[in-house]
Amino acid sequence: MKKVLITGGAGFIGSNLALKLIAKGYEITVLDNLSKQIHGDEPEISSPLYLSIKDKVNFIHGTVESKEDLKQAIAGQDIIVHYAAETGTGQSMYQIEQYTNVNIGGTAAMLDILANAEHNVKKIIIASSRSIYGEGKYLSENLGYVYPSHRSDEIMKTGDFEVKYPNSTGTLTLVATDEESKIHPSSVYGITKQNQEQMIMTVCPTIGIAPVAFRYQNVYGPGQSLSNPYTGILSIFSTLIRNNKEINVFEDGKETRDFVYIDDVVEATILGIEKDEANGQVFNVGTGVATTVLTVVEELLKNYNKQVPVKISGNYRLGDIRHNFADLKKISALLGFKPSVTFQEGIKNFADWVNTQEIKGDKYDQSIQEMKQKGLFK
Ligand SMILES: NC(=O)c1ccc[n+]([C@@H]2O[C@H](COP(=O)([O-])OP(=O)(O)OC[C@H]3O[C@@H](n4cnc5c(N)ncnc54)[C@H](O)[C@@H]3O)[C@@H](O)[C@H]2O)c1
Repeated sequence: MKKVLITGGAGFIGSNLALKLIAKGYEITVLDNLSKQIHGDEPEISSPLYLSIKDKVNFIHGTVESKEDLKQAIAGQDIIVHYAAETGTGQSMYQIEQYTNVNIGGTAAMLDILANAEHNVKKIIIASSRSIYGEGKYLSENLGYVYPSHRSDEIMKTGDFEVKYPNSTGTLTLVATDEESKIHPSSVYGITKQNQEQMIMTVCPTIGIAPVAFRYQNVYGPGQSLSNPYTGILSIFSTLIRNNKEINVFEDGKETRDFVYIDDVVEATILGIEKDEANGQVFNVGTGVATTVLTVVEELLKNYNKQVPVKISGNYRLGDIRHNFADLKKISALLGFKPSVTFQEGIKNFADWVNTQEIKGDKYDQSIQEMKQKGLFK
């Protein structure tokens, strides 16, 4: 039996991974601070994610910012899956110190312990993110492959949202982002994920630990937080639809994301835990399919069998990317991973689950107000 510590293991991906690993015979410890933004004010009542694992794992209520909590959690573990993080991209642009303290500081504290004290850890999985790439990869007719930087306020203000590249002529074609693509995050969250990944990939080999980084695309599925207004349009739109409120689609609705179903993410991560071929590698995890925001809205309305007004508002958030979808050649070749759930299947499962949940008031307006005040929402 192998012992695995999952930091942030009460969260969406961590709790699903924990349950799957337990079913496979692993012994799981979770270190999680039960952040109110994710788990509500009273996790014992308000967090189905926490409740799903609480009696099945060795649960430590603590923070990755505390070396004492980390030491207690790391003792006796064979493998660490490091998920604990602040996870809101927009929010990271005005809670900069908090995001760097938890995400970068927490990873640094963990590595300090592993580099300087006795332990049994042989492998670390770090949750990196597609956000480290920033905008996607494009093929320019005259320049070859290019990596456009984030779009400017001046151009988006005119309602022109498609990506441009200086001196590129003819069409600029979106292509899949592979692991060798330029890393240029457009948010503080992305910067912290890049930093976490680089620290783990750089330090671990020098201290005899095999590192594996997974750059997850947009993960979704039953159990994801419906109350956190800072992440995930599937949750935000679902809550609006169920509350019969208008959906404000930003830009022109043609922006795309690669939505990957939770079971596929868990599957990929377990391959990384179990296969030596993963050691020392970074992998994209996604579906390889770019889905527009308007398709998301249509699929949700269809699955809830409801109609609410949909306003394609031309609003935009500074720092948002236009497109990015994963190239899966590497993870397919080295780990044999192939996503098995289509967006249409996954969103049906998600909507069926949402329908079993209590309808809550949404805090979305408040999050938009916050971004407006900071000049990040236009
Ligand atoms: N969900 C996605 O689409 C996605 C995409 C790319 C990367 N990731 C990364 O995967 C990991 C897991 O994401 P998730 O969707 O499960 O997020 P989540 O927000 O559901 O879970 C994060 C967990 O970390 C805990 N946490 C927060 N701060 C902590 C601290 N200081 N100490 C201990 N625990 C703390 C929270 O309470 C929560 O349970 C994160 O590192 C995230 O950045 C997620």
